[in-house]
Amino acid sequence: MRKCLLSIMVLLCCHIAIAQSAPETSKNAMVVTAQHLATNVGLQILKQGGNAIDAAVAVGYALAVVHPCCGNIGGGGLMLIHRANGKNIFINFREKAPAKLQRDMLIHNNKVDNKKILFGYLGSGVPGTVKGLNLALKKYGTMPLKIVMQPAIRLAQHGYKLTAGDVKFLGKFTDVFRQHMNVAKIFLKSGKPYKVGQILLQSELAHTLSLIAQHGSRAFYRGNIAKQMIKAIQAHGGVMTMKDLADYRAKITKPVVCHYRGYKVMSSPPPGSGTTLCEMLSILNAYPLSKMGFHSAESIHYNIEAMRYAFADRNHYLGDPAFVDNPAKKLLSPQYIKIIRQQIKANKAGNSRALLKKHLLQESPNTTHYSIVDQYGNAVAVTYTLNSFFGNKRIPGNTGFFMNDELDDFTIIPGKSNQFHLIQGKANLLAPGKQPLSSMSPTIIMKNNKLFMVVGTPGGSTIITQILEVIENVIDFHMNIAEAVAAPRYHMQWLPDKVYIEPHAFSKEVIKQLEKMGYKIHVGLASGEKRWGAVMAIKRNLKTGEYSGAADPRRPAGAARGY
Ligand code: DON
Repeated sequence: MRKCLLSIMVLLCCHIAIAQSAPETSKNAMVVTAQHLATNVGLQILKQGGNAIDAAVAVGYALAVVHPCCGNIGGGGLMLIHRANGKNIFINFREKAPAKLQRDMLIHNNKVDNKKILFGYLGSGVPGTVKGLNLALKKYGTMPLKIVMQPAIRLAQHGYKLTAGDVKFLGKFTDVFRQHMNVAKIFLKSGKPYKVGQILLQSELAHTLSLIAQHGSRAFYRGNIAKQMIKAIQAHGGVMTMKDLADYRAKITKPVVCHYRGYKVMSSPPPGSGTTLCEMLSILNAYPLSKMGFHSAESIHYNIEAMRYAFADRNHYLGDPAFVDNPAKKLLSPQYIKIIRQQIKANKAGNSRALLKKHLLQESPNTTHYSIVDQYGNAVAVTYTLNSFFGNKRIPGNTGFFMNDELDDFTIIPGKSNQFHLIQGKANLLAPGKQPLSSMSPTIIMKNNKLFMVVGTPGGSTIITQILEVIENVIDFHMNIAEAVAAPRYHMQWLPDKVYIEPHAFSKEVIKQLEKMGYKIHVGLASGEKRWGAVMAIKRNLKTGEYSGAADPRRPAGAARGY
């Protein structure tokens, strides 16, 4: 039953190894998350009669316990909901820069102070997860908060048995965990990394979650939890205040929408990167990728160019909509897409540096994702994050949860890259009260007003290209959802002007052809191999209505389960 069956098959014709996978299938509902116990929590809520939003909130809190690197209450995220009544809703619960934070506090000797941002509290944004989840439940759920939080509280209080997939993440940061007593006492076992089969107990987190279950968001944003957070943050050089927490609001808006080969794609507007996903899809709509073939030099070429142009625009123009007038409509307009296509030459790599000088638009008018569909026709896609794995790797006081280091997603110094090697411009410049631009793009796809796909992933800047490739794998290359998720990936983000590929993604012959076109191919990812992502996807068979789900084999603790 568990997860997809994986066997490596060598395609003799082009010498590429790809994973052959079978998805989990179900008639009524499906939950796909990065941790199998959280998947069970979502499924249980659905079986009790809850809807996808009830399940999404329960899973959000459960992942904060069973996937502590990435599931969180100390971070923020984005949620996309398709309701059975046809309405589509986007909830922005991304973190915000504290009101007293200034850019120069994060700069030392003209350089971005990475230690402060990634390992201290100055890099923490005001967390949005608790407000976001609770707002979703109140507006669109059917169950009380106490009930949907119960499974998470139980998992924290009674503990859970660690699998190889869990230990893989917990064991990666032993040295950093050792530096903080309150972290080490929970996430190390007598000072050593946890082993498979041992039980992870989190009684402090259970207490924090119980307070939220009893008193709602107030407990987190105004009560004792808030006081502990601010005390720890200010004791270690942070500038967040009780007022920052009390003032935090999650926002409800509409998704960004585009069309790709007859499918309606809905994704996350800024501060998410659904606009960039849509820009890529809109460029690619004109090219017959299916005829060109999966991972042929020709289809890769057009994909890389779409990635290059869309990332250049993302990194230059997009930012928090409360601060920046995002030109999303222009970026997705047929006229502008046509101008981009005219720049793309057959068989020739583009040049990112040259693009830097001429922005075309002016010439023309640690993170986790989960996907849920329910028995009523609702669908939810959530990506939420601490940014780095385990955020800034600090726990405020005895609250039991990690704080984010999300402010690294801002442009701190224009032209200087962040941990994802993204070089971003002024639209995303850090400012008090602003939300950093995110690559997160939870996405829902419809065909003829019927639900077709729910998809998303972590992975920093690779989030956008991973989702693009999974969509193409299904729509253009006719893979089942598990094959689409398992297939090897590649990535380009304008700058650095390189094409990053997973090992064995392209055949030697294809690499040769791409190099001849002028591409620099790099096996591996500049921001680290873990960032190839963890896509959690669901596809609906448009004829039978059956669901198939796949948890990314790159995150082996995950599971797709339905009924
Ligand atoms: O919002 C963003 O774009 C990043 N903070 C996401 C970080 C991420 O996906 C890390 N995962 N591997």
